[in-house]
Amino acid sequence: MSFRVQPAPVPRPNRCQLFGPGSRPALFEKMAASAADVINLDLEDAVAPDDKVQARKNVIEAINDINWGNKTLSVRINGLDTHYWVRDVVDLMEQTNGRLDLIMIPKAGNASDVYTVDAIVSAVEMEKKREKKLGFEVIIETAAGLAHVEEIAASSPRMQAMSLGPADYAAFMGMQTTAIGGLQENYHMLEDPMEGGGARAKHWADPWHYPTVAIVAACRTHGVLPVDGPFGDFSDPDGFKSQALRSATLGMVGKWAIHPSQIGLANEVFTPSEAAVTKAKRIMEAMAEAERSGAGAAVLDGKLIDIASVRQAQVVVKQVDMINSANAG
Ligand code: COA
Ligand code: MG
Repeated sequence: MSFRVQPAPVPRPNRCQLFGPGSRPALFEKMAASAADVINLDLEDAVAPDDKVQARKNVIEAINDINWGNKTLSVRINGLDTHYWVRDVVDLMEQTNGRLDLIMIPKAGNASDVYTVDAIVSAVEMEKKREKKLGFEVIIETAAGLAHVEEIAASSPRMQAMSLGPADYAAFMGMQTTAIGGLQENYHMLEDPMEGGGARAKHWADPWHYPTVAIVAACRTHGVLPVDGPFGDFSDPDGFKSQALRSATLGMVGKWAIHPSQIGLANEVFTPSEAAVTKAKRIMEAMAEAERSGAGAAVLDGKLIDIASVRQAQVVVKQVDMINSANAG
């Protein structure tokens, strides 16, 4: 147990981050009109090298001209291993009107990567006397990113969110898969051989479990929002939902959408259900009652509840209160 209080992340909904390539400006108005909490205009891997410069111009124009409502607006810049990223950052800051909330740094490998971008952003903010501080989000999608996940979470006061990028992660880890997220055919266990030699059922395991938990732990330690990345097969809503439910169960607050059909699914999974909120409130009431009679533990519906149950219940209630107040505001 640490005497330090765990810092709270920024109190804004982040249930769905909708991506669109900066080279497809026809999508931007549709993105702005969507039900996603966060919009990510992409300059990185969804944009071909020949389109990079034009995509940057499109994105700058869109930030200035489109009404993004109360959405969190983010641009994914190019990686620090390219020559594009510096101009991405500087042009975005110099040529937009202050509406941009975040930049997303892909393939963050260590705290120095974030520090480097921070130094440039801070210098431009000073020069332009920008009151609004630009926030950062990063993608953990390399072996180095995972190895240094905690120092990355702690790397800058600008850090707001951290996503798992399963496709690059798989590539950098040398994993034998070509899918973007979801279950992988070869990642299963077989049941023990049956007596009499019956068929052995496959038990599927989740290859993203470890990086998901590592990201959640780093984020929760340092007050950053943990987010699940893309699920490439947008023709498989059940698979998307199942992955999102696992991430939500492990503590993530949202998931990317790479197609509009995934937005409603993410919002549904990452908004606590009425049943979950009712149950949480009953736990809080039952514990309040127990405390009034001097007890530290109680029984609700035949199950033990104690002060830790109240903490669990508060996660649900606080999350739904935050979402409701953001929607009202
Ligand atoms: N945001 C908003 N609207 C989108 C959209 C997006 N990301 N992707 C597609 N749409 C719209 C289409 O314009 C179309 O609109 P319409 O009904 O008005 O014509 C509708 O949704 C259905 O689109 P569909 O034809 O199924 O998709 P597509 O073939 O046009 O595009 C993708 C499919 C995957 C190429 C596209 O969704 C996309 O580029 N996604 C984002 C990829 C990305 O940014 N990746 C980086 C992060 S991993
Ligand atoms: Mg990537």
